[in-house]
Amino acid sequence: MNITILNDTDDKLGDNAEARVGATPDIVKNYVASGHKVTVVKGAGKYANHYDADYKSAGAIISSSNKVACKDADLVLSITGKDAKFVAGLKSGSGITGLMNPTDNPKYAEACAKANVTAFALEYIPRISRAQSMDVLSSQSNLSGYRAVVEGASIYGRAMPMMMTAAGTIAPAKCFIMGVGVAGLQAIATSRRLGAVTTATDVRPATKEQVASLGAKFIAVENEEFKEAETAGGYAKQMSSEYQKLQAELTASHIAKQDIVITTALIPGRAAPILVTKSMIANMRPGSVLVDLAAERGGNVEGAVPGKIVETKNGVKIVGLLNWPSRLASDASAMFAKNLKNFIPLVTAEDGSYAPDWNDEIIQGCALTRDGKVIHERLKG
Ligand code: NAI
Repeated sequence: MNITILNDTDDKLGDNAEARVGATPDIVKNYVASGHKVTVVKGAGKYANHYDADYKSAGAIISSSNKVACKDADLVLSITGKDAKFVAGLKSGSGITGLMNPTDNPKYAEACAKANVTAFALEYIPRISRAQSMDVLSSQSNLSGYRAVVEGASIYGRAMPMMMTAAGTIAPAKCFIMGVGVAGLQAIATSRRLGAVTTATDVRPATKEQVASLGAKFIAVENEEFKEAETAGGYAKQMSSEYQKLQAELTASHIAKQDIVITTALIPGRAAPILVTKSMIANMRPGSVLVDLAAERGGNVEGAVPGKIVETKNGVKIVGLLNWPSRLASDASAMFAKNLKNFIPLVTAEDGSYAPDWNDEIIQGCALTRDGKVIHERLKG
């Protein structure tokens, strides 16, 4: 089949820009060896340290623009899936991958249906064991969790570990992680590696043991509701207002003593819960840092500004930056590319041509459109 690696990067590499690419030269080499024709759009890998010449040596054709490169593509490998206007120009009968944010952007799936393009929304790949190697949410969140701590430590501007020197002792930083999913777990591990005194919280009871196994202390309101706060799919449930009140009281007293707070709490299909309020922030020490990884979905921290770092009157910095995996574009691209490579067999026939296996539950789970129609349950009605 004809595979195109899109240039998803933003023209100006600002703080929140997209910097990832959907294939590394090594993976392109592998596609070419499997008999696929691979086209890479000029500059697609430049922020991930992969240059056009590397892709060319790997056997790819370098194309001047996304539009030209997609004209004959059977499958377009993209990080974001671009936008409704772009997919309208793709070849009828082709497919495109990406983190498409489908419910916030219903026009996108409609445009794919109209153009008879199958949109594979990677965030909807079912979280079953067989799909773990294709799980873009996990591969990227893991890096976000790491980067959030590194960014927080850098903005904090003081040392993380305890240091005992002839000039005096530096106390270790106190770091609190709120939300212990994939990003939160990596944030805990990173904070511990840097030597901070690390605590963490979540509403899912299963996380208590995970936090302890990473050597951090678990802090949560462990009442009856907490014991049942996990869905069959392993995600958090929306908590009652009574629980949220108890949680807020506990958080308020704990947060006042923290130097760095990383928030990662999300509930699928809903706005992120507010976990840190303005009054809690008012009691934090000057110089402390809040890193809100949920800023993309409304934020866990009151006062976080998406895409920006702001400072409160009492000297607390709130980091609401977006697109964290792009801050580690090289590693994030390598992992994303591997996830896509593992996905491709599901859309490839035995003779190497493009043919999604519609009987496969992974394809059924992530395809937004088929044969000119929007088919995904979450986008209907
Ligand atoms: P997520 O990004 O949806 O949410 C992050 C964390 O925030 C979750 O741990 C959630 O419980 C927590 N949270 C939500 N509301 C909260 C509140 N009010 N206070 C404190 N914390 C709150 O989660 P992610 O990273 O997608 O992981 C969700 C689950 O999926 C986990 O159990 C994870 O182990 C599982 N998972 C399974 C995979 C598989 O089987 N293939 C792959 C990756 C994750």
